[in-house]
Amino acid sequence: MHESHPFQLTRTLPEDATGAALRADVLNGLTGTPKTLPPKWFYDARGSELFEEITRLDEYYPTRAEREILERRAAEIAAASGARTLVELGSGSSEKTRLLLDALPDPLTYIPVDVSESALTGAARTLIEERPKLEVHALIADFTRPLDLPAAPGPRLVVFLGGTIGNLLPAERAEFLASVAAVMEPGDSLLLGTDLVKEESVLVRAYDDEAGVTAEFNKNVLAVIDRELGADFGLDDFAHVARWDAEHEWIEMRLRARADLTVKIPELDLVVRFAEGEELRTEISAKFRREGVRAELAAAGLTATHWWTDADGRFALSLAVLGGAGAVTGTAAS
Ligand code: SAH
Ligand code: AVI
Repeated sequence: MHESHPFQLTRTLPEDATGAALRADVLNGLTGTPKTLPPKWFYDARGSELFEEITRLDEYYPTRAEREILERRAAEIAAASGARTLVELGSGSSEKTRLLLDALPDPLTYIPVDVSESALTGAARTLIEERPKLEVHALIADFTRPLDLPAAPGPRLVVFLGGTIGNLLPAERAEFLASVAAVMEPGDSLLLGTDLVKEESVLVRAYDDEAGVTAEFNKNVLAVIDRELGADFGLDDFAHVARWDAEHEWIEMRLRARADLTVKIPELDLVVRFAEGEELRTEISAKFRREGVRAELAAAGLTATHWWTDADGRFALSLAVLGGAGAVTGTAAS
């Protein structure tokens, strides 16, 4: 890192915590019925790269739709929040965040939070080169754990972009939003990106692209388990599945065993059997409606003050503050 730029990287978890958490999640997930794995394990360096590749696919509209809203609304968001600190959960490459950083006045502190160290350091390196006045304090942390944020000037704008909240199950979302509300102080705000319910064919294409990048991203979780836990998953033994669950209004990504399989995971002293056709759930990606987002925010003690969508109504950004009833003043893009 360039010496004249203020940059700190903090690991809020002990060195071994990631390994211990992976072991616990794999043991729980692969011994349960049906078999599941939490999506956070997609994102080693390769997984983070694959996600960036996904964001550039024709079929994957959420990134472009959210960028369109930010391009149009960043100044309004900056003014409404009055933020001096921008905290970003699941920041990844911080690519779209630049639009907010540019709209907020100096001096500004940026606190990106991610489990992917490679994504954090890559993003921070570029940002501090481009923005000499920006103070960056990156946190390697799991946002599903209670948040422990460094002291920074208020008001703070907490942003959670990309629709990543949709990768949490409803109960996890409720817990997550409550933990965000718990670290917010009066005057702070939350900017939340949510992908919206739309035609099934559009949704399925976004998660099952022609070039097979999403399939590779999905299978990357098996590569992570092979490398970290000495397992012998064969990536070609599984087929990528993306399915719309109309009842829950979420896309489910799964890996389907192409044959009867026996997988050894030496680090866990575990042998896992898959029957031919058996599916392992690796991710849900929930799609939202305006009323549902409002209600979930309200249940966490947050009031939505603005709601913005892209011109095609594919994706939404909500701005919320602490506290009870308040009118939603935002509108769809015009
Ligand atoms: N916000 C970016 C990246 C979205 S990809 C965008 O909108 O394009 C999801 C990001 O969340 C990845 O960088 C991944 O490493 C991170 N992530 C996933 N689960 C996480 C968790 N439990 N805690 C912290 N970061 C997580
Ligand atoms: C990070 N998250 C919002 C992405 C999504 O669309 O649910 C992850 C992803 N999974 C498959 N493609 C992209």
